[in-house]
Amino acid sequence: MAKKASPARYLVLHGPNLNLLGMRETEIYGTMTLAQLNRELQAFAKTAKIAIRARQSNHEGELIDWLHECRTWASGVVFNPGAYTHYSYALRDAVAAIQVPTVEVHLSDISKREDFRRVSVIKAVCVDQIGGLGADSYVEGLKLLMKRRKK
Ligand code: DQA
Repeated sequence: MAKKASPARYLVLHGPNLNLLGMRETEIYGTMTLAQLNRELQAFAKTAKIAIRARQSNHEGELIDWLHECRTWASGVVFNPGAYTHYSYALRDAVAAIQVPTVEVHLSDISKREDFRRVSVIKAVCVDQIGGLGADSYVEGLKLLMKRRKK
């Protein structure tokens, strides 16, 4: 009997302070918790017939380790680096090093907020940057990676 092709697998990586979603600056980030966001992404993954593994860390080194580790299994990464977006050259280097297509995502529109948020040191090594759509930023990031994989 022919073996079923295994689904494409994606890492969804949430950076610092995103564990506090739902209670943190709700006027900016909304009231959805991280668990609810991950459930929504799992529901999308089911309909899209892909697999996702979601992780969150407040620690730069741990995010780097997970980026390195996903080289062995992931077809792509949807990455919200939180405030590391604006200054972490170590995370930028990790994304560049792994050569796994990565989309940078943000819940808020960082281009319309404080000056320091307008700069992303990670964007240039990513396939794209998507922000301002809340949870849909992640969904759009996944869709983009799926489309890219089909080409
Ligand atoms: C964020 C935007 C960052 O500037 C901020 O530090 C975050 C969340 C977003 O998803 O909108 O922690 O990445």
